[in-house]
Amino acid sequence: MDMQDDCIIDVSGLVKRFGEKSAIDHVDMKVKRGEMYAFLGPNGAGKTTTVRVLSTLTGFDEGTVIIDGHDIVKEPREAKAAIGVIQQHISLDKDLTVWENMMAHAMYQQMPKAERIKKIDQLSEYIGLGDYYNFKVDKLSGGWKKRVAIVCALVHSPKLLFLDEPTVGLDIQARRGLWDLLRKLNNDGMTIFLTTHYIEEAESLCTRVSFIEKGKIIADGTPEDLAHKIGYFTVESFGKDHNTQYAYFQTKAEADEYAKQFDDTMTVTVRRTNLEDAFVEMTGNRIGDNGFMLQKATNPKEAR
Ligand SMILES: Nc1ncnc2c1ncn2[C@@H]1O[C@H](COP(=O)(O)OP(=O)(O)OP(=O)(O)O)[C@@H](O)[C@H]1O
Ligand SMILES: [Mg+2]
Repeated sequence: MDMQDDCIIDVSGLVKRFGEKSAIDHVDMKVKRGEMYAFLGPNGAGKTTTVRVLSTLTGFDEGTVIIDGHDIVKEPREAKAAIGVIQQHISLDKDLTVWENMMAHAMYQQMPKAERIKKIDQLSEYIGLGDYYNFKVDKLSGGWKKRVAIVCALVHSPKLLFLDEPTVGLDIQARRGLWDLLRKLNNDGMTIFLTTHYIEEAESLCTRVSFIEKGKIIADGTPEDLAHKIGYFTVESFGKDHNTQYAYFQTKAEADEYAKQFDDTMTVTVRRTNLEDAFVEMTGNRIGDNGFMLQKATNPKEAR
């Protein structure tokens, strides 16, 4: 398999402008088949715009986007067939039941009736939705709504699934349930591209991560690669001024040597560098105690 075949997403020189402003600013990116890939960045970084462009929901100004070997401008039909997408604000009809929503979606994909029913049954069983067929969508919790949206997105058997901030507003249990489902899908061969502003989501789920800020990719690699770019070991020191200082070193010996200088009025920890350290160092974004970026509401009631 050559590199082109190996990549399900191949983006070069991508630019998307709103007026003077570039929401996507010369982005190059390749995602290999079978990857679980995260776009990690703060509010306004360009995550939603990127998902919308790559999934053909909106146009762009410069560059090329190849999805599953098809240029999305020249061969939109072939490219679209490979793509399933779950947008940041999921678009289900609240007044319809789970089953009716899924059927409406399959009809939109122009699937014959017998095939629609078979596929929806199959997917619902896979995703554990069967018991909810007759529920009105607005009676479901956020986690189950996401699952309905996932069935809708997968009904035409795409190879690649885009999810824009899939776990915003979900409680911890629903979030973990959704993570397990995404792992299962990925394990069964689905390539997944998700955006998130949760560091721990990218770190625990994804094989590869890009940091995106102001429409530009500023670093990418496995969570381990990114952590190690700044130094394998971190010395964290906390003292009377209540400010935590961080220093990074490639070897444990160097980190231990550095840690020795502090007297016992300081609390000093030597540990492995993680994705959060890398993110803070490379982007200058601060992160709260719970591991979430501070710019965004973390209370589900405030989150959109
Ligand atoms: N339809 C639009 N018209 C004008 N500007 C837009 C439009 N959509 C997005 N933008 C701008 O493009 C930039 C990127 O927005 P985008 O929604 O892609 O960011 P995001 O990373 O998804 O943010 P969030 O975390 O808040 O969802 C922002 O500055 C935003 O204001
Ligand atoms: Mg967004």
